Amino acid sequence: MSKDILSARNDFPILSSQVNGFPLVYLDNAATTQKPQSVIDAISNYYSTINSNIHRGNHTLAIQATDAYENVRKKVATYINAASPDEIIFTRGTTESINLVAYSFGEAFVKPGDEIIVTQLEHHSNYVPWQLMCQRKGASFKVVPFDENGDLDLEILADMLSEKTRLLAVNHISNSLGTINPVEKIVRMAHAAGVPVLVDAAQAVQHTLHDVQVIDADFYVFSGHKMFAPMGIGVLYAKEKWLEALPPFISGGNMIDQVTPEKITFNVLPFKFEAGTSNVADVVGLGAALDYINSFDFQAIQAYEEDLLDFGEELLSTIPGLKIYGNPKRRSAILPFNIEGIQHFDLGILLDTKGIAVRTGQHCTQPIMDALRIPGTVRASLALYNTREDLEQLAHGIERIIRRIRS
Ligand code: ALA
Repeated sequence: MSKDILSARNDFPILSSQVNGFPLVYLDNAATTQKPQSVIDAISNYYSTINSNIHRGNHTLAIQATDAYENVRKKVATYINAASPDEIIFTRGTTESINLVAYSFGEAFVKPGDEIIVTQLEHHSNYVPWQLMCQRKGASFKVVPFDENGDLDLEILADMLSEKTRLLAVNHISNSLGTINPVEKIVRMAHAAGVPVLVDAAQAVQHTLHDVQVIDADFYVFSGHKMFAPMGIGVLYAKEKWLEALPPFISGGNMIDQVTPEKITFNVLPFKFEAGTSNVADVVGLGAALDYINSFDFQAIQAYEEDLLDFGEELLSTIPGLKIYGNPKRRSAILPFNIEGIQHFDLGILLDTKGIAVRTGQHCTQPIMDALRIPGTVRASLALYNTREDLEQLAHGIERIIRRIRS
C-alpha cells in the first residue's frame, strides 16, 4: 500500500528543526531537496558495513559494494523506463552529464558551420556547455525564445531546425519560471528534422512524467540531490546507439579494455563512461531515494503538488504589489515573484530571519532575467513534504515585511 503524502514531513529530520529561532519553512527545493532518514541511513550503513571499491576486487566486501551499486543502476533504469541499465551512466550531477554530452558529442559529430539549438529558458548548465562547444568547433549557437507567458515559441523552433542542426538541448521544467515544456512534442519535431535531443530533467524527474521511452529523448539528465538523494550524484541516460558512438569524456581506470602504447580499446557500456573510483555511497543513497519516492503513488504526488502550487499562486496573488512571473500553460512546483519597492535579495534575507528559506537572484538563468528585464526574483519552490501551512507562513512573512517597510 502506498504511503500517505501528508506523513512525508515526518521522514525528514531537518524539517522539524528551527532556523533563527523559528520552525524551518523550507521552500528552496528547486535548489536542493532535503533528505529522508532512510537515505541518510543508507549512506551511513554503506560505510559501516560494505564500503569497498567496486568492479575491481574479488573479496566479499568488493562484491557486495559492486552489487549494491549495480542494483541502483537497475532501479534508475526502471524509474525512467530505460530500455537497459547499460544506458545509465552515473555522473556527479546534471551539470557533469550535460558537459559529458557537449564534449563527446561535439568531438564526434560537430563541425564548423553546424548549429546547436538551446532555449532561452535554460539553466546556465544547459546553455554554457553548448556555447563553449560551439566556440571550440566553429558551430553556431541558436536560442529559441519564450513568449510573454513563459512558454517556448515552438514556431520559431520549427523554423530554426534545419539540416545544419546537430542537436537540440531543452529542459523539461524551467528552474526559474516552472514552465513545463511539452518535451514529447519538441522531441517529435526535432526527430522529424533528424535532430537528436538532450532533455534536462533536473527539475522534472521528481515532479512529472519521467519515461524516457515515451519522451523519446536521446539524452536525459538529472541530479540526485533534487530528488531526496545526496549531492554529488547524478545520471546521464542516453540511447545505447549514442553511447556506443560517443568517445569517452573522462579517461582512466575501469573505462578501458586493453591499453598498450600503440592502442586503447574501451570497456563495454556503461563502464566506458565511468572512469575512476565511483561515488558508490551516494549511488546507494540515490537508490534509497528512489525507494522512498516509489513508496508513494506517483500520481498522488503529482496531484498533491499541483494543488499546493495552485493554492500558493492564489495566496500570493492576493498580496498587494506582488507580481508572479510567467503564466505558462503548465507550471510545476515553482513560484517566482517580486514585490514592488523591495529588492528580491532583501526580501530573502528578511524572510530568513523568520526561518523561511527561499532562493533569490537570477537562479543561474541570466537569459531569462534579461528577457524579463529584471535583475532577479524571489523563488519559492515546492516538494512533496511541503504543506499549505508552509505557504501561509510565506504569505504572512511577506505581509509582515511589507507592513514594516511601508509603515
Ligand atoms: N539549479 C538549482 C536552482 O535552480 C541550483 O536553484
